[in-house]
Amino acid sequence: MASTHGAHGILVASNRGPITYQTQDDGSLHAKRGGGGLVSGLSAIGPDADALWVCAALGDGDREAVRRGVGEDGVRMLDIDAEVHADAYNGIANSVLWFVHHMLYQTPLEPVFDAEFRRQWDAYRAYNRAFAEALAEEAAEGASVLVQDYHLCLVPGLLRALRPDLRIGHFSHTPWAPVDYFRMLPDDIRAELLDGMLGADRLAFLTWRWATAFLDCAAEIDPERYRVTPASEASRSVEHLDGAAPARTLVGVHGLGADAEFLRARSHEADVEERIVALREEIGEGRRTIVRVDRTELSKNIVRGMLAYRQLLDDHPEWRERVVHVAFAYPSRQDLAIYRDYTAEVQRVADEINSSYGTPGWTPVVLHVKDDFARSLAAYRLADVALVNPIRDGMNLVAKEVPVVSDEGCVLVLSREAGAYEELGEDAVSVNPYDVVGTARALHEALAMQPGERAERTKRLAAAATALPPAQWFLDQLHALEA
Ligand code: G6P
Repeated sequence: MASTHGAHGILVASNRGPITYQTQDDGSLHAKRGGGGLVSGLSAIGPDADALWVCAALGDGDREAVRRGVGEDGVRMLDIDAEVHADAYNGIANSVLWFVHHMLYQTPLEPVFDAEFRRQWDAYRAYNRAFAEALAEEAAEGASVLVQDYHLCLVPGLLRALRPDLRIGHFSHTPWAPVDYFRMLPDDIRAELLDGMLGADRLAFLTWRWATAFLDCAAEIDPERYRVTPASEASRSVEHLDGAAPARTLVGVHGLGADAEFLRARSHEADVEERIVALREEIGEGRRTIVRVDRTELSKNIVRGMLAYRQLLDDHPEWRERVVHVAFAYPSRQDLAIYRDYTAEVQRVADEINSSYGTPGWTPVVLHVKDDFARSLAAYRLADVALVNPIRDGMNLVAKEVPVVSDEGCVLVLSREAGAYEELGEDAVSVNPYDVVGTARALHEALAMQPGERAERTKRLAAAATALPPAQWFLDQLHALEA
């Protein structure tokens, strides 16, 4: 039996992997590497750990790489049928689970859980099963497996059935829905989701707010089978009363922080300096800046941010020509029509503000939609105010990154619905993301803050933001799973 097991002692599973391939005009494959917490975490454990990252092939380039056997040590890409993947990723993960956890539905008309939804759910199941099977094949006896996010909620349960010897962890990078919202899902589906998650030995979240929401859902689905109890000061546990493995699932929290060392070095490289010069030119001499940098997610609330800025220009005309809203809204999930529409709306509102308020020497909103990391860092460095006003957000790393790289201190206007609020709220100016008038008031307060106070707050924000750097965040999860 043991001989059929794989060789890897530590495995990570996520939909999006650390590398993507693009087919070039000459037919060759170009590899592009990504960053993020998992990448730093895996590099921290070093090559001796013999880790394997299992991910999905996302585009044609990735699929081509799998077919040609092109790859990288330590990464296994799964070439899941493209339609199955699209139904699982676009249909279920991004159009249902993302919506549920971020509370994005316009409920008079949606969601509608019809036969089409059931068909897509089957694809989600098949896609989760493909991951579970690959992990079962690759994992050494007793290996630790760290499953990531809402794409792979069923993997822990499916994998446990295949390989009861493994230690299985799951990490949620998003919020978790409050129980009344979660109950919108059909009963059998929400039970399947929770049973899938509770196949893990340990579940982890970015803040206690999301962990508690999960525990509330677990306590409610099947009290005959699951009971929530405190496990220790730093974790809670879900006891499995039906005798099935595992006997209990621990639930803990790891608040991913910003990578100070990397950000400070990267933000002083030549390409960032160049972009600072270009941005200053666009903004104009002596003007203040309200900066935001987001992927164009429905949950990021970019449109209300602009409406609040317009309200600021109405309520405080003294800021006209003296401030610029620098908004970077980078493309995300463009396969989904609702994302494309939202992106268009961001553009429309920016144009409308510029045509109503702009003057020959002043463009009130500078909007960029093409992803450029160096330019983001440039904007972080020169921002007077950072606007981070999501409707709901697992953490929001922009809120943590800005104070770390800011040149002269930056006031953080922060939604109380961002996970980061738990750690940063005290030194930020807080906003209710739906309240445009209140957000305008907060922007005014932020712009008017004295430099001394601003610098003091930024220092404290940077300290809180870097309390748990990515590599440590990853190691803590691994150690907690192995304990
Ligand atoms: C955000 C969320 C993550 C999620 C990721 C997926 O960053 O915070 O929880 O995994 O989006 O993004 P993708 O571009 O792969 O859909």
